Amino acid sequence: MSAAVLEVTSELYAEAEFCSTDTGNGNAISKFTFVYPNRRNTDANGTQTGQTNGMDKRNGQSETATAKTPSIKDSEEESYIEEESFESDYEESVCDEEDDFEYESDCCEASEQKETNQPSIKLDKDGDLDVERPRKGAIEIEHRKSTRLDAVGLQIWRGALLLADYIMHNEKKFKNAHILELGSGVGLTSIVASMYAREVICTDIDIEGLLDLIRGNVQRNAHLSNPHCRMHVNELDFKVSYQDYPRELKDKLQHVQYVVAADVIYDDDITEAFVRTIVSLLLELPKLKAIYIALEKRYVFTLEDMDSVAPCYDYFLRYFEKRNSRFGVNRWKLINVCMNFPRYFDYDKVKDLVLLKICHASK
Ligand SMILES: C[S@@+](CC[C@H](N)C(=O)[O-])C[C@H]1O[C@@H](n2cnc3c(N)ncnc32)[C@H](O)[C@@H]1O
Repeated sequence: MSAAVLEVTSELYAEAEFCSTDTGNGNAISKFTFVYPNRRNTDANGTQTGQTNGMDKRNGQSETATAKTPSIKDSEEESYIEEESFESDYEESVCDEEDDFEYESDCCEASEQKETNQPSIKLDKDGDLDVERPRKGAIEIEHRKSTRLDAVGLQIWRGALLLADYIMHNEKKFKNAHILELGSGVGLTSIVASMYAREVICTDIDIEGLLDLIRGNVQRNAHLSNPHCRMHVNELDFKVSYQDYPRELKDKLQHVQYVVAADVIYDDDITEAFVRTIVSLLLELPKLKAIYIALEKRYVFTLEDMDSVAPCYDYFLRYFEKRNSRFGVNRWKLINVCMNFPRYFDYDKVKDLVLLKICHASK
């Protein structure tokens, strides 16, 4: 059977309990609820983090403009500081041991975080009970419930939620950052990134109206975004070489600090094109700090191996390694990110899910 006619359905739909309504045009609109990271709205420096910008749809409470983020002045000052520290980070070490260590400490934080997502009981200044409940939000996404294999971007996959969790948990890292998402499907991860980032470039191929679907989803969730975030939806096909990207897209990419991609490793041809794309980005983007790739290994048993193997994942590792060691030395390092960060969205964080980080080996 040709890949183009094979009908596939995301595993996510069977396991997550989200409210979903059919639109009548073959699509559904589903509500992906999440819990905001519980950090009492302040970061280590006591700065407002903007986590109050959610809307608790179940309670029907809408946000107010003032609750969204710090004042414009505060946020401009912050962004200036971030830019400055970014420049010096880049000079010294974009991805060094300290950065890896960050994940180690993320892991420790993660176990504490799980506890703190439970309601905690404190006394307010008058001695009355002050029960802190997890703040909830919801992202509404229009998507398909099943598609042919060549249109899987119209569905939503576990990797998108894993990457969204990672971004939420590492809010400080992504705050005011310039982020590019590759193969973004219906846009959920980019929408989460826009809650913190200064600029998000959400990209995919334009198959069966996918880019317009993303634009609709971005509009539908605009109230969740950092009001200073610029959101773009652009076509970026892994099979088109960097040299042939439109000038306007190349200009935007010059600012990108983080590239993220979820569940784009499932077909060897696409994997090869994806690896060529990330290699070009690693070579061409002057401010790029790291690429995060969420994927599901998807084991199969083969008679040839007489074992369970993850052929697409293995193919990705081999192909990346081949490109990486092309000139005798490894230019980039590939790190398995510790998975012990909390789950803010509702999905099955199966053990086959992985999050990889790629960055320059020398930095
Ligand atoms: C399994 S879906 C994952 C979508 C989304 N990231 C998620 O996790 O829900 C794979 C994505 O890769 C995209 N893709 C496939 N071929 C591509 C290509 N040549 N260039 C760019 N994206 C591509 C698909 O359109 C789709 O959005």
